[in-house]
Amino acid sequence: MKVAVIGYGTVGSGVVEVLMKNHDTIVCRNSLEELELKTILDIRDFPSDPNADKFTKDFNDILNDSEIGVVVETMGGVHPAYEFTSQLLSKGKSVVTSNKELVAQKGYELLLLAKENNANYMFEASVGGGIPIIRPINNCLSANEIIEIAGILNGTTNYILTRMIESGASLDEALNEAQKKGYAEKDPTADIEGIDAGRKICILADLAFGKHIYPDQVYTCGIRDITLEDVEFVKSFGGVIKLIGSAKKLNDGRICVQVRPSVILDKSQLATTSGVFNAILVRGNALGDAVFYGRGAGKLPTASAVVADVIDCVRNYGRTKMIPWAKNERDFVADNFLLPSRFYVRAYNVNDGSLAELERAIGGIKVLERNNQRSDEFAFVTGEICERDLRQKLGNIESVEIKSLIPVTDY
Ligand code: HSE
Repeated sequence: MKVAVIGYGTVGSGVVEVLMKNHDTIVCRNSLEELELKTILDIRDFPSDPNADKFTKDFNDILNDSEIGVVVETMGGVHPAYEFTSQLLSKGKSVVTSNKELVAQKGYELLLLAKENNANYMFEASVGGGIPIIRPINNCLSANEIIEIAGILNGTTNYILTRMIESGASLDEALNEAQKKGYAEKDPTADIEGIDAGRKICILADLAFGKHIYPDQVYTCGIRDITLEDVEFVKSFGGVIKLIGSAKKLNDGRICVQVRPSVILDKSQLATTSGVFNAILVRGNALGDAVFYGRGAGKLPTASAVVADVIDCVRNYGRTKMIPWAKNERDFVADNFLLPSRFYVRAYNVNDGSLAELERAIGGIKVLERNNQRSDEFAFVTGEICERDLRQKLGNIESVEIKSLIPVTDY
């Protein structure tokens, strides 16, 4: 089988490196007749690359090459990756990708197209980088009804929060560091604002709950407003703040899906996931909780997942393995403000009067303290309440200024 790679950036060049370096092991261990990299498409020139003779700038060289059966798309973005992928699948070629943006937007259509053409569309590397998570949900956990998935899905923000928690660095200092170390993009908006994690939780929710969910249906809140004050208060409660992407099934069958900073108790396995690592917890009704942990980004970890998909495509050539999920239904996603949870709240302008009112309105709160606390600052954790009711009650207390409102998780 001959393979092509579209997009020779960090992940694409990592894929080529793994295919070359591990060629013999891959072929032998998987009993393949052959696995040969034939063509690489990129608009840039790489004259001194060891594979310089394999480069093309013309997509048709791949599309019309009947020897190429599997194509790796590591160019990123929706366009023209979508058009390329559609044309390849229509010709019966399988496509493997790490492109979470494309899968989150067009996964339903592309899986269907793959099925219609007895091909495969695989995307293990689109969530959690090198961590096996797509295949475990599809295969190993397929006997379970999945109740909830929750994970640290973005390495950049986890690095920043870890630096804030462990060293008291401010968010901007930690972001600068992440950029210098090459973890964060020059424009880290998609990471910081939770957009990247939103795409990833969509893909996991699609797989776990069987219907396409679009990124614009995910309640998304990034880490921009998290302060060292929050970190300290939450520490006094025995927890840490992490950016969590979660999808939870409600009793009526609908799904709550959100990305937001969340308080994780120290005893949770997610609490000890530090730096650029990712961890994904899957709660099944037979298995209980399982946590998948590892390197969620980076050249070779991501390439490891891509190449595993390539091997799977070769082994299943001419036979569709990935089962398409159903098309989107807007009302499948429920309002997360109705989901009961405990909440951490930090407020300013709290005096004796407003404090009494607050305790009367909400009741059963656990008051938190930190060093050098402002005299009008007040932080607490509520009992179970839905966010809509909590915000309504807090809004009724005059002059109190809510600075942070963060759910406390139970995993
Ligand atoms: N920017 C992403 C992250 C890369 O920081 O996790 C991997 O998807």
